[in-house]
Amino acid sequence: MSERYDVDPSVTGKLTCGTLRAGNVGQTVTLNGWVHRRRDLGGLIFVDLRDRYGLTQVVFNPQVTPDAHALASGVRNEYVLRVSGAVRQRPEGTDNAKLATGGIEVEVHNLEILNEAKTPPFYINEEVEVDEGLRLTHRYLDLRRAGMQRNILLRHAIVARMREILGGLGFVDVETPLLIKSTPEGARDFLVPSSAFPGNFYALPQSPQQLKQLLMVAGFDRYYQIARCFRDEAQRADRQPEFTQLDVEMSFVEPNDVMELIERLYLELTERFTGKRVRESPFPRLTYSEAMARFGNDRPDLRFGVELQDASDGLRGTAFQAFAQTLATGGQVKAIVVPGGAEYTRREIEELTELAKRAGAKGLATLAVRADGVRSPIAKFLSPEEVEALSGGVGAEVGDLVLAVADTPAVVAKALSGLREEIGRRLGLADPDEMAYCWVHEFPLFEWDEEGQRWDATHNPFSGFLAEDAPLLETDPGVVRAKQYDLVGNGHELGGGSVRNHRRADQERLFALMGYPAEELPARFGALLEALDYGAPPHGGIAMGIDRLAMLFADAENIREVIAFPKNQRGLDLMFEAPDRIGEDQLDDVGLRIEPDKRTAPWADRRGGHEG
Ligand code: AMO
Ligand code: AMP
Repeated sequence: MSERYDVDPSVTGKLTCGTLRAGNVGQTVTLNGWVHRRRDLGGLIFVDLRDRYGLTQVVFNPQVTPDAHALASGVRNEYVLRVSGAVRQRPEGTDNAKLATGGIEVEVHNLEILNEAKTPPFYINEEVEVDEGLRLTHRYLDLRRAGMQRNILLRHAIVARMREILGGLGFVDVETPLLIKSTPEGARDFLVPSSAFPGNFYALPQSPQQLKQLLMVAGFDRYYQIARCFRDEAQRADRQPEFTQLDVEMSFVEPNDVMELIERLYLELTERFTGKRVRESPFPRLTYSEAMARFGNDRPDLRFGVELQDASDGLRGTAFQAFAQTLATGGQVKAIVVPGGAEYTRREIEELTELAKRAGAKGLATLAVRADGVRSPIAKFLSPEEVEALSGGVGAEVGDLVLAVADTPAVVAKALSGLREEIGRRLGLADPDEMAYCWVHEFPLFEWDEEGQRWDATHNPFSGFLAEDAPLLETDPGVVRAKQYDLVGNGHELGGGSVRNHRRADQERLFALMGYPAEELPARFGALLEALDYGAPPHGGIAMGIDRLAMLFADAENIREVIAFPKNQRGLDLMFEAPDRIGEDQLDDVGLRIEPDKRTAPWADRRGGHEG
C-alpha cells in the first residue's frame, strides 16, 4: 500500500501509527489505533495498527509475552487497541518499502483492548466498490477508508490554503447568518418556521449574496467567507442541497480585478494540490456567445476540440425539407466531427441519435466520410455541394463521422454539446492529468422565463450591466450583457460572480424589467435598496464551489465523495434518516398542520412499512 495520508505525523507532537522509523529502533513506545488487518501465523500474530497517519506492524510472540499473545488471538478487524512494546528492525527481507514505517515493527509487551468492534458492513481495509447507500448509512465507517480520508484531508488543505492566501491579501472573514430572509439565486428556499411568530418563516440562504453586498456598504472592502449555502433543487452528480462556497466580495473593482484574484488563487491551488498540468495560463476568456457558438454550452471542457461547426450557409438553397424549413425560420444547421467515427455501427449511431432526441432535437443527420465517398441516410436529399458543405466543409476527413442537427440555436446547442461531451468520453479525448480553466464572461443579463412570461436574471438580480448596452435595457433586454463571469474547469462551472449595481436607480430599473411589482420591493429587498442610498461603493465579487473544486482535484466521480456527510441523490440523509416527521407538539409550536394527502414516507422501507 502506498503512503495514504498527507499530514506529517510529527506536527501532532505525539506518537502515531505513522511516526516510527529505523531511527526509533530500541525505543519502548505506546501506540493507539484500529486493527487494520490481523494475520495469525500459528506462532506469531501480526497486527497492522492503523490511525489516520499510517500503519504500524505490531507483533505478538507467544514465547515472549504469552498473555498479550493470548489476548491478541481474540482481536478482530477494527478493534481499538493500545499496545506497548519495543521498536525493532524488521527481519531481513520482510521490509515493506510501500509503507513509511515499513522498515520497523513493534514487539508488543502489553496489549490493552480499548474497545471491540462488530464486523463492519463493508471492507474498511480494501479499496473495493461498495454500495453507496450502505456507505452513507455508516458514513463514520466509510470515512475510515483510505480514499475518503484522502479526500477529506485534501479538502481541508484546500480550504486552509484559501484562508491563508486571502488573509494575506487583506481579506476579512465575516460570518453571516443562516436564519435570514430569502436571497434569490434561482432555486427554491429551504424554510424554517418560527415558533415565536407562528405563520412566519426564516429562509436558509441560497448564498450570502445580499449580506456581502451590505458588508461593502459597511466599508469592509475585501470580504471572504467559507459559506454554507442551501438550495432546494434537483440533485446531480455535482449538486447538493447544501454545499460550500468560497464567497468573495470586493469594493472599487471591475470584473477583471475579481478574475485576476481568483486566477492567481486557483493556479496556486492546482499546482499545490494536484499533479495536473494547467492547459493554458492566463486562463482563456470566452464571451458567452463565443462559448455557445463553439461548444454549445457555457461551461465547455477545453481539454479537447470537437467544436461545433456552422454549416447553415452552405445549405441555404437545399431541397431537403428538414433543413430548408429550419433555415427559413431563423434556425441553423450545425455539426460536430467524430474523429475516426466513419465505421460506427448502426447501434452506436442509434444511441447517439437517441441522445440528440432526448436533448430536444427532431433528428440527427449522420455522414460517414469514407475513401469511396460520403455515406449518409440524407445524401439522396442533398446536392454534391451540400454534401461537401456538411463533410469537408465542417472539417471532416476520410475516416470521420459528421453529426448534424438542424433546429433553433438553443436546441442545436443543447443537442450538440451533449454529443460533444459523449464523444469526448467515448474516445477518451479529455486528458485526466490536465486542468483546462477558462473564464466565460459577458453573459446576457436576462433570460426569458417561458413559464413566468417575464425576463429573469441569468445569474442573480444584483448583477450590473455593460454601460454600452444600457440604452437597450428597455428596448431589447435579451441582448444586454451583464458584468458577469464564470470560472469553468474541465467542463464544470467552478464559480461565478459579477460586478453589482451600486446605484439604487440601476437596481430598481432591473427589478422593474424583471417584473417585480414596485410595491413588493420594500418587503423583498428593502434593506439592500435602502443601503444603496447611503453611499454604497462600486463593488463586485464571486462565489467558488468548494465541493466541485475538491471533486476535480480528487478525480472523484461525484461531489458526495468530497463531503463528509452528504445527502444522497434524493436529498436524503441516510445516516440520521432526515428529513423526518416531527411530533404533533413541535408542529403545534409553530402553528403548522400537515395535510394527510401531502404526507410522504421516505423511510417506510426501513421501518417496516409504518412511520410516524
Ligand atoms: P452561483 O449560484 O453561481 O453564485 O454559485 C456559485 C458556485 O457555487 C457552486 N454551486 C454548487 N455546488 C454544489 N451544489 C450546488 N447545488 C451548487 N450550486 C452552486 C458552483 C457555482 O459556480 N451569490 C452568487 C455569487 C456571486 O455573484 O458572487 C452565487 O451564489 O460552483
Ligand atoms: P426524415 O426525412 O424525417 O425521415 O429524416 C431523414 C434523416 O434526416 C434522418 O436520418 C433524420 O434523423 C434526419 N433529420 C430529420 N430532421 C432532422 C433535423 N432537424 N436535424 C438533423 N437531422 C434531421
